[in-house]
Amino acid sequence: MIRRACVIGHPVAHSRSPLVHGYWLAQHGIDGSYGLEDVAPEAIDGFLNTLSDRGYVGANVTVPHKEAAFRAAAELDKDAAALGAVNTLWYEAGRLHGANTDVYGFLANLDAGEPEWQRALGEAVVLGAGGAARGIIHGLLGRGVDRIAVANRTFERAEALRAQFGPKVVPVQWRDMPGWLNSTRLLINTTSLGMKGQPPLDIDLSLVSPDAVVTDAVYVPLETPLLRAAKARGIATIDGLGMLLHQAVPGFERWFGVRPKVTPELRALVVADLAAKGQLV
Ligand code: ATR
Repeated sequence: MIRRACVIGHPVAHSRSPLVHGYWLAQHGIDGSYGLEDVAPEAIDGFLNTLSDRGYVGANVTVPHKEAAFRAAAELDKDAAALGAVNTLWYEAGRLHGANTDVYGFLANLDAGEPEWQRALGEAVVLGAGGAARGIIHGLLGRGVDRIAVANRTFERAEALRAQFGPKVVPVQWRDMPGWLNSTRLLINTTSLGMKGQPPLDIDLSLVSPDAVVTDAVYVPLETPLLRAAKARGIATIDGLGMLLHQAVPGFERWFGVRPKVTPELRALVVADLAAKGQLV
């Protein structure tokens, strides 16, 4: 019988996950499918509780349903339990399991892009304090990063992250963020600034050490103004597309029984799709 999975979101039409999983299904000759499910917030709990009745062996869950997926799962992995958010669902012995593979995806993308990123890393600077920032902070703390400065327009949200994660998280007023740039070796944008249709993230990269790594959770466009400016200064950059590709790996393995690889060919396929839609820059 064909094994079916999907990504559930609202909206979800823009998702590149079907492209990624479709590539792996074809590559491994697996009799499976991966589709899109646009589910409105008022319908999400009912949908998740009947996932297997709908013929699915599991699903990815994206904005705004990751908290609903957390509630729906009977079993949680450590990252999902810590974050209260689930992006990957599957069944084991009839019970719905939930994981948060965004954390793994973020770290695997850094490891692949700059294998030495943790060396000489005293503190990291995270811009933004939403759901993406929470996952990333959790992942960095799990890798033993000593101090994470979190700068956010709404300071209270940065303070809430300190309350959640403890004193290694230092909340920073947005206007004070430039003062933290020269001591960091890792700068991460998790805000929506720089996304297509949003204002650019306007920061002075002359303050950032040439040894630093700059990464952006945004991947539409693929080369955000932040990454372009960093490259122009010779600073190492890692784009957000790799996080999307790597977070998909554990789900595919659960649903289809093969651990797939993030290959240059897969990346090129998604980059070509971004290019076709004018989303490279
Ligand atoms: P996600 O779950 O993807 O992280 P989010 O919770 O909506 O999304 O968070 C978006 C982030 O972008 C927030 O940190 C937000 O700052 P606020 O907490 O002050 O809203 C940040 N952001 C969005 N627009 C911004 C802007 N114009 N200037 C600065 N930060 C902005």
